[in-house]
This record gives sequence, structure tokens and C-alpha cells, in this order.
Amino acid sequence: MGVGRALNNYAVQHTNPSCLLRRERIEPAIFARSFWLGTNCIKNPQPLLDRKTSESLTSVTEAAAIHNLVTEMVAYLPTLGVLAASLFLVFLLLRRMVRTHSATAIFWHTVLQEKMTNLVKGKSRESRILDFVLQNGVRGDAKSVVDSIDKYCREQEWAMNVGDEKGAILDKVLEEANASTVLELGTYCGYSALRMAQVLKPGARLLTIEFNPANANIAKQVFHFAGVEDKVSILEGSTEDIIPQLKKKHDVDTLDFVFLDHWKDRYVPDTKLLEECGLLRKGTVLLADNVISPGAPEFLQYVRGSSRYDCTHYPSHLEYSEVEDGLEKAVFKS
Ligand SMILES: C[S@@+](CC[C@H](N)C(=O)[O-])C[C@H]1O[C@@H](n2cnc3c(N)ncnc32)[C@H](O)[C@@H]1O
Repeated sequence: MGVGRALNNYAVQHTNPSCLLRRERIEPAIFARSFWLGTNCIKNPQPLLDRKTSESLTSVTEAAAIHNLVTEMVAYLPTLGVLAASLFLVFLLLRRMVRTHSATAIFWHTVLQEKMTNLVKGKSRESRILDFVLQNGVRGDAKSVVDSIDKYCREQEWAMNVGDEKGAILDKVLEEANASTVLELGTYCGYSALRMAQVLKPGARLLTIEFNPANANIAKQVFHFAGVEDKVSILEGSTEDIIPQLKKKHDVDTLDFVFLDHWKDRYVPDTKLLEECGLLRKGTVLLADNVISPGAPEFLQYVRGSSRYDCTHYPSHLEYSEVEDGLEKAVFKS
């Protein structure tokens, strides 16, 4: 065994390299110098004195230990490289799936991202949306509030509003319906209601049902800020409880337009409830969101398979994403 290797072995035995690094907190420049010194001391075991590094390096053996550590690290580089490249590929794949795959996107946005951010920021996503609206919207200007919510949800964090792309379809279908009495199932923060309020003709009214008190509270503040309270009323409670009360308690004869945007398993039961309660007339337009993502197959089967409805599909994308989604219009015939 050469003298250099013997010195190196001695250094490794007597100096734990990782401890050495932690204890000495060696600067990168000194570390490089040490590596050079270590290399030299293995070639030539004479004690090396260097003015710049002698204060940091207590002995030649430490230099040798550092040399050894670096040599070991270099040996691991290919493995580390493969690991880093694999992690990067997994990251790219996940990012792509969040953008284009329905279940992954919804799981990421509504479970992982939302819960983690709520924990870190100590307030709900809906409160953060309200804060952004109050700071960036213009009081009394519903369009500026809608634009602020879109900006927040595109640039900061996703939220389950109908969004700008499907929102434009909602505006158009509602405008064509020339509705006087509109019902929304699922208010959330009030985004779609604000869009509809801007399209409604003078004297028309919109009732929107929300069973989550926290969401209803945010929506009330959004409506107040946007100045649409005279057109929009929030009815707090579940759709199954409130729909049967619409005629007597809320003075509704029949509905001209219904926007279904609550939990998807309620689309069919609530459509049947609207029929049973005599709230649909010939020509009432039902417009259902998210029929592709997360999907409402039973609803599509029900309205498309019924001779009582004329259906039109509007392909689009899940709000603020590239995931395929669509709206279904079902016009009640009788
Ligand atoms: C997708 S969000 C509505 C988004 C809103 N339409 C928009 O585009 O801005 C669904 C909302 O429906 C509410 N919801 C779900 N099922 C409901 C039910 N059966 N009765 C009342 N509200 C319901 C949820 O609490 C949630 O706030």
C-alpha cells in the first residue's frame, strides 16, 4: 500500500468526513483548496503548510479526509443524476396530468393543494378569493369582480367557479333564453351568479341556492361589493328542501332558466323534483355544468333519453384548465 493511500485510510478512520464538514463549516473556496491539498498530500505525505488554509485545516489528515469524501461523492454522481432525472420526469408527468386528466386535476386542486394552502395560510380558499376581490375589484362593478375572481383563479389558485371559458357559454345561453325568473343550484362564491346578473334583463330576478353557510356568507359579501343585491337572492339550505318551497315561499310561478352547478349526484333527483313541483314550463332551459368533468352521466342519460327534453351539448374545458368538460342544455318540452 502506498504512503498516500495509507495516509488516506488513516484520515478516514480518524476523521468522520461528514462530521468534519458539519463541524468546520468550510467555505467553498477553502473546500476546493482542501481538496487540492488532500490530493497532493496523498501523492506526497509531507505536511503541507498553506497560509490561506492552515487556519481552517487542522492537519493534513483532514485534508485527506475531505479528498476521500469528494472522491466518494463523485462516485455517487451517476446514481444521483439518474435519480434527479427520474424525479424531474415524474414531476413533468404529474404536471401534465393535473392539466389534462380530470380526476388527477380535481384531486390535486380540491384535496392536496387546497388543504395544504388552508393549513399554511390559516384561512379558507373562499376567504382568500374574497380578500382578492375586495383588494382588486371595483365596488359596484360586477364585471370587475368577475374579472378579479378569474385572475385570482388563473394566476394563484384554482377554484370551482364555472370559469371564464364556460362562463361565456352560460352568458350566451342565458341571453338567448330571455329569462325573467332564473334559478341557480350551487352558489359557491357567487361567480356564476354575478355573470348571470349582468346578462339579466331589467326586472328579472335570480335565486341561487347554497347549503354551505361559509360559502353563502362569502357570496353575500361578493354580491354586496358588486352591487347586485337587488337582482340576486341567496336561499340558504339544500336544494332538496328549498325547491319544494319555491312556489309558496319565494313567489315563483315557473322558472325560465335553471343553472345546475351543485353536487353532481343531485342533478337527476333535483331535475325530477323541479318537474314534480310544476316549476318547469314548455321552453324552460336547464343548463348543467361539469357534465364531462367530473361528469354527470346519469343526468345526460336521463335528459337525452327522455322525450320531454331537447338537448344540446357545448364542449368546453374544466374551469381554468385544459381538462375536457362541457355544458348540457336541456330544453323542457312539456
Ligand atoms: C361548483 S360549486 C358552484 C359554483 C358556482 N355556480 C360558480 O360557478 O361560481 C358547487 C356549490 O354547490 C353547493 N352545493 C352542493 N350540493 C348542494 C345542495 N344539494 N344544495 C345546496 N347547495 C349545494 C356546494 O356547497 C358548492 O358551494
